[in-house]
Amino acid sequence: MLYRRLGKTGLEVSALGFGCGAVGGLLVRGERAEMVRTVARAIEAGVNYFDTAPLYGNGQSETNLGWVLAELKADVIVGSKVRLAAEDMENIEAAIVRSVETSLGRLRRESIDLIQLHNLVTNQRQPAREGVTVADLERAMAVFARLQAQGKVRFWGWNGLGDTPSLQEALAAPAQTVQCCFNLLNPSAGRPVAEGFAFQDYAQLIDRAAAQGMGVIAIRVLAGGALSGSTDRHPNAAASVDPIASSSVYAADVALAQRLAFLIEGGYADSLVEAAIRFAIGQDGISTALVGISNADQLEQALSAAHKGPLPSTALGGLARLWAEGGWASPV
Ligand SMILES: NC(=O)c1ccc[n+]([C@@H]2O[C@H](COP(=O)([O-])OP(=O)(O)OC[C@H]3O[C@@H](n4cnc5c(N)ncnc54)[C@H](OP(=O)(O)O)[C@@H]3O)[C@@H](O)[C@H]2O)c1
Repeated sequence: MLYRRLGKTGLEVSALGFGCGAVGGLLVRGERAEMVRTVARAIEAGVNYFDTAPLYGNGQSETNLGWVLAELKADVIVGSKVRLAAEDMENIEAAIVRSVETSLGRLRRESIDLIQLHNLVTNQRQPAREGVTVADLERAMAVFARLQAQGKVRFWGWNGLGDTPSLQEALAAPAQTVQCCFNLLNPSAGRPVAEGFAFQDYAQLIDRAAAQGMGVIAIRVLAGGALSGSTDRHPNAAASVDPIASSSVYAADVALAQRLAFLIEGGYADSLVEAAIRFAIGQDGISTALVGISNADQLEQALSAAHKGPLPSTALGGLARLWAEGGWASPV
């Protein structure tokens, strides 16, 4: 397993991180024995970063991760989050403290290694989407700093989703990490894209964050599963997935993924899942690439992909040509 520094936190995180979210679903809906076996296997293979949030299964992911890690007596790095709802905006500080205390209880920890603001960052508050402004985000970061002084969190960060200009502005806030959407369908957080690119252009948020010493956690590396090239869902996985920053419907992302078949036909990777994971872990600036895991087999495939290392430069050249083509990613 490759390890990378999580920015200025000084923590060394595995290039492959374990997503405990509701999309993959193992830590939300899985069977107890499979959860323990799969987490144990991940740790044995060197995975040391686990990403959860109160939102995932309404606390279920944190609760399950808490007891699984306790049962395994595992010493790993755990990241969780705080999502501010519309009614929390009147007293952001109280809402954050309440959320962190609840997370500590569920996770059975005295301290959370990394706490992240889980809201979208938008140019004005957007209650329906739980969008917060950069000013709100700055207030949240100040609360995280106070929680750090109390020993309840070690480091803090935010979610690189929302409006591109607001995200760029948020880079000025004092924080150690950011989660960024990065995948073969929309690589704009880490690569320049041509004018007219059909999806949101994140304007190389990853590069900008990394350049100022922030740790970057990649999300949506498999586009929520669409980069498997199949619409089938595992029983533990979320029954439906709303794409982030790609097509408006999941099936269109799956169709778009078929256009990446040259990666398999050209012998660069054995599967699209492998290609997608190798693409993310090979991206400069990314500290750890999360994969949402539904079962033990998916973990094995992710480990095998990570062990193969970054995609070769010829494959990256082919991808750059594809993204530059007119018509790439025409949203449905
Ligand atoms: N900060 C945020 O707002 C945010 C947002 C999203 C995610 N995250 C984090 O990122 C993690 C990753 O989740 P994600 O939503 O980004 O999803 P993702 O990793 O892009 O996709 C996960 C899905 O990929 C499929 N998959 C995984 N391995 C596979 C394999 N070997 N073969 C075929 N399909 C495979 C599974 O779907 P099937 O089982 O149905 O095939 C799984 O549900 C989450 O757990 C969470 O920790 C954070």
